Amino acid sequence: MIVTIDGPAGAGKSSVAKRLAERLGADFLDTGAMYRGVAAASLEAGLDVTDHDKVADLAEQLNIRFNWSDDPPSLKVDGVDVTHRLRDRDVTRAVSDIAANARVRHVLVHAQRWIGGEHPNLVTEGRDQGSVVFRDATVKFYLDASPEVRARRRANQLREAGREADEQKILEQIVYRDQRDKTRSDGPLICPDDAQHIDSSGMTLDEVIDELYRRVQEALAGAGSGA
Ligand code: DC
Repeated sequence: MIVTIDGPAGAGKSSVAKRLAERLGADFLDTGAMYRGVAAASLEAGLDVTDHDKVADLAEQLNIRFNWSDDPPSLKVDGVDVTHRLRDRDVTRAVSDIAANARVRHVLVHAQRWIGGEHPNLVTEGRDQGSVVFRDATVKFYLDASPEVRARRRANQLREAGREADEQKILEQIVYRDQRDKTRSDGPLICPDDAQHIDSSGMTLDEVIDELYRRVQEALAGAGSGA
């Protein structure tokens, strides 16, 4: 059983995918963490992340591994735990360029398919999981919310963590990232025809998880009955 959850930044994919995986007794794959891991390693190596060839040469050599016994799984790049770096500001700034690098995408798509083979019960989230990586997934979701709602949620998260948040600036960043994610030539963010579109704008996290869980059960029952 492979469940894919794609969608724009800030739609709540990580929280939803993690809790849905727990409820289904499946593993949870955060593919954004892999792009962030390559970004952190590139910065550590002193590379200019807009230099696509150099970054891709590095990515092709890296050993990127999750430790599945941690919850959520921690990420090691060449044996170094980079989990604490993934949400840092410099990594977040660099990662759009990493994600637009076709050779890096090729490496990570391959790694994600390998993980899918090792973890046959998987809830995976990203931008291209249903459209590119796991085209034959059991169920595909596209989790969306309006840019304004996503900006408000992000601002609230920051405030809860004791940090300052300028909602208007966050909204601008979200619109910019959406545009980049949707228009890149390789693995663009799209809602595949066979994905179930969920707009979470007016829903709580629990409601979204309940709805996805119900739909997965429905799909599994349909598959079991040969429907
Ligand atoms: O979901 P996130 O913010 O951790 O993703 C980090 C970046 O990686 C973001 O620019 C989108 C990109 N990404 C991608 O292009 N494909 C994926 N499967 C996952 C993330």
